[in-house]
Amino acid sequence: MSKPNFQTVAIDLAERSYDIHIGSHLMVEKTMWEALPRATSVLIVSNETVAPLYARQLEELLRAKFPKVITLSLPDGEAHKSWQTLNLIFDALLENGCDRKCLLVALGGGVVGDMTGFAAASFMRGVPFVQVPTTLLSQVDSSVGGKTGINHPLGKNMIGAFYQPLRVICDLDTLKTLPAREMSAGLAEVIKYGPISDMGFMEWLEQNMDLLMARDVDAVTHAVRRSCEIKAWVVAQDEREGGLRAILNFGHTFGHAIEAGMGYGAWLHGEAVGCGMVMAAELSRRLGLVDESFVVRLTALVVRAGLPVVGPILDAADNAGRYLQLMRLDKKSDAGEIKFVLIDGPSRACVRGAPDAMVREVIDACCTH
Ligand code: NAD
Ligand code: GLY
Repeated sequence: MSKPNFQTVAIDLAERSYDIHIGSHLMVEKTMWEALPRATSVLIVSNETVAPLYARQLEELLRAKFPKVITLSLPDGEAHKSWQTLNLIFDALLENGCDRKCLLVALGGGVVGDMTGFAAASFMRGVPFVQVPTTLLSQVDSSVGGKTGINHPLGKNMIGAFYQPLRVICDLDTLKTLPAREMSAGLAEVIKYGPISDMGFMEWLEQNMDLLMARDVDAVTHAVRRSCEIKAWVVAQDEREGGLRAILNFGHTFGHAIEAGMGYGAWLHGEAVGCGMVMAAELSRRLGLVDESFVVRLTALVVRAGLPVVGPILDAADNAGRYLQLMRLDKKSDAGEIKFVLIDGPSRACVRGAPDAMVREVIDACCTH
């Protein structure tokens, strides 16, 4: 039998360390599921889009190892990343008699992964879980690092926990069924790793963006691997976001305002982050941290990834005021002062405030053609 072909990125978190496996056909590769703790039951949490595509094959494989395997299919979409949907996971666990020795498997994108992780963190005060991310965004970002949670109508990802998975299995074959718009959304989170920590990777992205858009296997493998390496490096130093980890939120302060202001799901998370990175780059320029050429370069890359670079109008009467109001709810805010992740040198990001008047100018400039 041929050996499976995959790459592994290790995330070093002492007793919570784990591996991220990246390759084709991995989900149904038996070795991926070896050396996990014994479990009395497995709940595969997926959604109405992903479950029909992939849950059956995974169920079949896991049935050979675990006595009881159940699949729960949640409603699809960011609008369902809520208490109500989270409760469906607890309902399924309790109705099926799952105990402390159960295992949760998140099969889907970031929405399924974040909710399943939060359910695992809180069911019976914590049960193990495995991430099987099926979108580019979840493979390069959300499945790694242990941020789990749900949205509140007043703010994005406001309720949650840090809780690490046992393992991440990135099966690149799942990207074959991913809609083009979702592929672009994932590329936003890939692009962010360049400016914040590796301009060499940004150059590589500039050279390979067309291949990535065409889902070339080698290019996608490299992008997922490099993104996971950078994220693993950051998280290993600052698991609970005491400082450094905040740089992973480049573009997210503006982006979360777009998502909440438009209503969750209207703009995809990655679309809002793509546009938010351009706004954060423009704020960096106005603060004298980068020059115009950086903003032009980043904007061109975001456009080539098929992402929007003009922000939406959230309030016709006072658009900038509405952005500011929403951004004050950001988790990085400190005593009401909004903190932005800004670029202040090649491969370097900082977290700092900016005068409201300047932020207003950036919003005005970035929300009109
Ligand atoms: P998503 O989970 O909504 O998935 C996008 C869409 O693609 C959904 O309709 C989904 O059903 C569908 N889909 C998933 N896999 C598919 C496949 N293989 N083929 C066809 N369709 C498929 O969105 P996302 O972009 O994966 O994740 C966004 C979420 O991740 C947001 O809620 C965001 O806040 C969160 N996030 C979390 C972290 C973290 O560190 N935890 C980091 C970044 C983003
Ligand atoms: N996506 C941001 C983080 O994981 O910290």
